[in-house]
Amino acid sequence: MTRPTDKLSEKVLGALQTYREESRAAKTHVVRQQPPQELARVMQLSNWIRGGGLDVDNYDDFFAPYLEHSQHMHHPGFIGHQVAVPHEGAAIADMIHGVINNPMAVYEMGPTASVVERVVVNWMLEKCGWFTGDIDSFEPSPSNGAGVLTHGGSLANLTAVLAARAHVAPDAWTSGTPQDLAIIAPAATHYSLARAVSIAGFGQDAIRYAPVNDLDVLRPEMLEQTYKQANDDGQKVFMVSANACTTATGLYDPIDEVAEFCESRNLWLHVDGAHGASALLSDKERHLMKGIARADSLTWDAHKMLRTSALCAAILFKDQKSMAGTFHQDASYIFYGEDQIGFDVGPYAVECTKSALGAKLFWVLAMEGEQGLAKFVEKQYADTRKFHDLINAQPDFTCPYKPEANILCFKYDGVNGNKTQLALREKILARGNFYITTAEIAGVRYLRLSVMNPLTTVKTIEGLLEEIRLLFP
Ligand SMILES: Cc1ncc(COP(=O)(O)O)c(C=O)c1O
Repeated sequence: MTRPTDKLSEKVLGALQTYREESRAAKTHVVRQQPPQELARVMQLSNWIRGGGLDVDNYDDFFAPYLEHSQHMHHPGFIGHQVAVPHEGAAIADMIHGVINNPMAVYEMGPTASVVERVVVNWMLEKCGWFTGDIDSFEPSPSNGAGVLTHGGSLANLTAVLAARAHVAPDAWTSGTPQDLAIIAPAATHYSLARAVSIAGFGQDAIRYAPVNDLDVLRPEMLEQTYKQANDDGQKVFMVSANACTTATGLYDPIDEVAEFCESRNLWLHVDGAHGASALLSDKERHLMKGIARADSLTWDAHKMLRTSALCAAILFKDQKSMAGTFHQDASYIFYGEDQIGFDVGPYAVECTKSALGAKLFWVLAMEGEQGLAKFVEKQYADTRKFHDLINAQPDFTCPYKPEANILCFKYDGVNGNKTQLALREKILARGNFYITTAEIAGVRYLRLSVMNPLTTVKTIEGLLEEIRLLFP
């Protein structure tokens, strides 16, 4: 017997299928921005909230405009932010979680999800050179690293800062953050890391900005000077954070050389690989992460280059003791200690209730295999270099650098000045055929592409260039 709710979920699934197909075939716009008040009106939000009654016959009054005005990430013209165009497997995992809802910060609330997360984390650790043995073995091995999945790279970065703080100042948890500690990081560091520094009680003055080249890439030969300057100012540097890769440009800091310096000064090395750590999967691109095994912690977002829906991120530690020392929390109603079956990740994560994040990555891996994901990363990186060559060969466009990852910046020389590149983006967005972003490098504003969608081709980029010329002839 079919129940009304079955029909509703079937209809929603059908609508999503159509939405995805039409987006992929570019039969819709990518996004067409509307003012919030207009969106609230067309979706009839207050009527639904006050009156209820959404069912199989009328759900489309809400759902059709909801989809219509969404960001259509499956559209080949989605070349905007570094968010994965989600793989079908990740969508299935989201659906399963939506039904069984096993929040798994404590093992007993999500035994299967806990095990999946641990095995997926072991797989990620293995890619860093921080895990040997069977990834699905639960035998403790002190020489292996450890990690936990988090709701986003920002929480992963915060966890890394807290772990490094616990390492250098174990009493900080009880007596507060010592005010003479400092972190070296390039100015192009993602804002979540800078935020984490303040959240952890250091204050922004604790960040000593590392000298960079004119493309915002960290200059490792200058680290000693920054370190000494901090010392002279009465600060004790305990951590260096490097980008792999930098959000704006997609360029990688030289991890191996930074590691060399950190080892010489006994400093914690954190690598923010939220976007670019996925290069570790590829034989061709792994060189970009050279030296990662020498780092202490790594942030790695699966919802960027490993094709999961948002969110699914990891904070990984070379030394499992680093993770164990991060938080010191007693919670007698959930953490039962050693005598229970299984293991809890709650003691190692900021979150208390935690979604079954590992299942999303597992489903993608289980469908594509690790080689399939490696090929995806390689394709996106290679396509972006191709797009660079195409754009740079045009007489009226300039690219400031050859991409290392799938992030590409360029400037239309038919218009002058930072404001005009911004105005150009606004006009492109208003037409709805492409969604792109911008970034500033050394004071110059560029248009910016994150090539996340495997359907974005040379033809798409040619179409974008044509549209730009049309907008500003
Ligand atoms: C380098 C880097 N680190 C951290 C983050 C934050 O990750 P999330 O958006 O998953 O919190 C981003 C997001 O774009 C990023 O590019």
